[in-house]
Amino acid sequence: MSWCDGLEAICKQSVPLSAHTWYGLGGPARWFVTPRGEEELAEVLRRCTRHELAWRVLGHGANLLVRDAGFDGVVIHLAGHEWESVCLDGPLVTAGAGADFPKLVKRTVEAGLGGLENLAGIPGSVGGIVRMNAGGKYGSIGTYVQRVRLASPDGRIEERTAERMGFAYRHTDVGRAVVTRVELRLEPGDRDQIMQRFRRIWNEKYASQPTVSARSCGCIFKNPPGHSAGRLIDEQGLKGACVGGAEISPRHANFIVAREGARAQDVLDLIALARDKVRAATGIELELEVEVW
Ligand code: EPU
Repeated sequence: MSWCDGLEAICKQSVPLSAHTWYGLGGPARWFVTPRGEEELAEVLRRCTRHELAWRVLGHGANLLVRDAGFDGVVIHLAGHEWESVCLDGPLVTAGAGADFPKLVKRTVEAGLGGLENLAGIPGSVGGIVRMNAGGKYGSIGTYVQRVRLASPDGRIEERTAERMGFAYRHTDVGRAVVTRVELRLEPGDRDQIMQRFRRIWNEKYASQPTVSARSCGCIFKNPPGHSAGRLIDEQGLKGACVGGAEISPRHANFIVAREGARAQDVLDLIALARDKVRAATGIELELEVEVW
């Protein structure tokens, strides 16, 4: 008897993950499951736990590096209507974990709701953005979160207020639970002003970072307290350093871009190089921001 008996309609085998990441790198998932709603997700999680299967949740793959060998376990993909729905109700916005965050930002800006324009240009799914408290110079998502629905590995559904989420720099206390839905509170304001601010922040981001079309996973490392990871790597003269088809971006040293023919291992080798050089020169241990499977 297989762990996924009765779930054949939503479970595939040997699915290439490169097609699901911005990097376009990495091997296949042994199993690839697309639950159609919270109940089905809970069932998948219960089975993974019972059968002691390794599992991961795939968002939009914007902050993810999959190794060349792929992932020998269950990849849970939150895609489809149930996961992508968004509802605006005055200043309150609810969105499924699979909703596209940049589209959500645009929709709220166009509705004259202020807040998310501060997060212009950050790619990802709503679930991924919230679980890592993504953000930039002008703030992080945690500031706008009111409530989060989560599915625990034993299949229980729970609601948590923002206070119980443990939002910190690129961190939450979500742990192994899966974000299923998020409620945000935004600030109604002047639509044109919010739109202008959105454009300014977007332009600023893309003037200093590799373009949207470059294959990357955003920033590789978290900023160590009081430092910029990009500057630390830059100071070691590593801009433009290459391994195979991967390159430390000449524009921003905390980005590694993948070119034609790159392998995930090339990126991992550059990560190790940057870490070693920065550690040797400064004693600072760079911590990964990107998720590696
Ligand atoms: N800098 C360098 N060389 C570089 C890169 C940066 O000298 O190669 C200097 C810049 O000149 C600046 C300072 O380092 O004085 C900080 O750089 P920047 O303003 O680009 O911001 P950052 O700290 O590198 C953070 C976030 C980004 C976010 C930007 C803008 C982290 C790890 N990174 O970058 O987030 O887009 O602020 O808001 O927190 C991401 O999380 O994936 C990401 C890209």
